[in-house]
Amino acid sequence: MRLVILASGRGSNFTAIDDAIKSCKLNAQIVAVVSDKSDAAIIGKALKAGVPNVVVLARKGFATRHDYDMALTDLVEGFNPGYIALAGFMRVLGKEFVERFAGRIVNIHPALLPSFPGLDAQKQALEYGAKVTGCTVHFVDEGMDTGPIILQRAVPVLEGDDEERLSQRILEQEHILYAEALALLADEKVRLDGRIVRISDGGDAR
Ligand code: GRF
Repeated sequence: MRLVILASGRGSNFTAIDDAIKSCKLNAQIVAVVSDKSDAAIIGKALKAGVPNVVVLARKGFATRHDYDMALTDLVEGFNPGYIALAGFMRVLGKEFVERFAGRIVNIHPALLPSFPGLDAQKQALEYGAKVTGCTVHFVDEGMDTGPIILQRAVPVLEGDDEERLSQRILEQEHILYAEALALLADEKVRLDGRIVRISDGGDAR
């Protein structure tokens, strides 16, 4: 599975995915990392990990959002990806991008969707008073964190949690979950049935 990763920041999910590939838990190759931020930590991590294409495509070089989306779409298409994994990519993808790669874009979100979509999901869960939150790997559609859910993992909110502590415990689970979901995709065990994701594992549907 040829994988392109889009990210804007720290890159810990990139590292988890790369580790899963290198330890043969995920049958994929990261063919490119694309970031919209030239100072993102993921860039150094991707170069160090030996990703063959590490590209910065900043929004400020383009007159309109549409121009940027078109350039991003063409750039990513040039890498001939099987799947595109968003890992902390802080831009909403344009219609062109989502349509061109329909059913082949996945994202990880630090909450149990459909609860707490959008920014600061961990803070939203804390402020709401949720007792359980977690993380979700889902397909990307044109909405904000609204696409079909592939896998989820629950994380309890503990007494005394602040945003940082809760985010850290969720992040540990994100790293496991993202590699697991991508492995299911790489092994062609994922099927879409309307908006329901069916997973076959040795013949059983989950
Ligand atoms: C993660 O919390 C992910 O759920 C969210 O953005 C964050 C990215 O973290 N979409 P990292 O850059 O992978 O460390």
